[in-house]
Amino acid sequence: MSTPAPRYASWTHGKLPLPELRELKRRGEKIVMVTAYDAPSARLADAAGVELVLVGDSAAMVVLGHDSTVPASMDEMLMLTRAVTRGAKRPLVVADMPFGSFQVSDENTLEHAIRFVKEAAADAVKLEGAGPMVGRVRALVGAGIPVMGHIGLTPQSATALGGFKAQGRTAEQARKLVADARELEAAGCFSIVLEAVPAAVAAEVTRTLSIPTIGIGAGRDCDGQVLVWHDLLGLYEGRAPRFVKRYADVGTEIRRALEAFADDVRTGRFPEEQHTYAMPDEELAAFFAAL
Ligand code: KIV
Repeated sequence: MSTPAPRYASWTHGKLPLPELRELKRRGEKIVMVTAYDAPSARLADAAGVELVLVGDSAAMVVLGHDSTVPASMDEMLMLTRAVTRGAKRPLVVADMPFGSFQVSDENTLEHAIRFVKEAAADAVKLEGAGPMVGRVRALVGAGIPVMGHIGLTPQSATALGGFKAQGRTAEQARKLVADARELEAAGCFSIVLEAVPAAVAAEVTRTLSIPTIGIGAGRDCDGQVLVWHDLLGLYEGRAPRFVKRYADVGTEIRRALEAFADDVRTGRFPEEQHTYAMPDEELAAFFAAL
């Protein structure tokens, strides 16, 4: 697989330096983030030249088969993050803090974030929300852990938000989103995900911050965009949100291959000579003689 030439002056080899993200925003160059949950996918994302790989707690839905992101556990997220950091060498790897891992206290949040950095080699963590979470961000950043914020539709609180629906659609909600984004920036976030918010509101948040915004369902004026791996590749069978664009239909291709395999097995077309091992004639003869 060919490796694309790095686009950025300071990214000639190795890990993308985190400050480069702000530079990209300053220069008006778009930032690309994609989710991944295993090493081969992370290797492909690296080869495609993306800047950021998010080990999203969306794994609970697209990998583990749950109906929401809430059941994702620390142990599951640590295992997935370890796999991704083994595969993604150049992109920055962001581990999503699962529900329950940052709600209790600053100390407890710090302990969990440290596990992502020490045990799973994550470059940064992401946590959902503002308000009471701003202090958490400050505690993590104070300990030297880079934090990505996430506001708008925050799937871990979908029930409280009244479902998986767009946020910030009234003037008051939009004003609050801008205020939340500013607080998260002041607390030290290096970037903020804006999920399912009107494009005009995301544009205003993006204009007002000096850190990059990464949009998902937030219009084209964000500094970067993220999509969930399974949505982007056509691997997820649930109803896709309005903001998803499918770039491939890998699910159909996998099913076609599995049906072809099953057919070959049932009709005896697989395995063929080239797929089997032989042994020396004399060993075979000795084997039968010994039976
Ligand atoms: O968990 C996830 O994949 C996310 C992205 C949708 C931003 O939080």
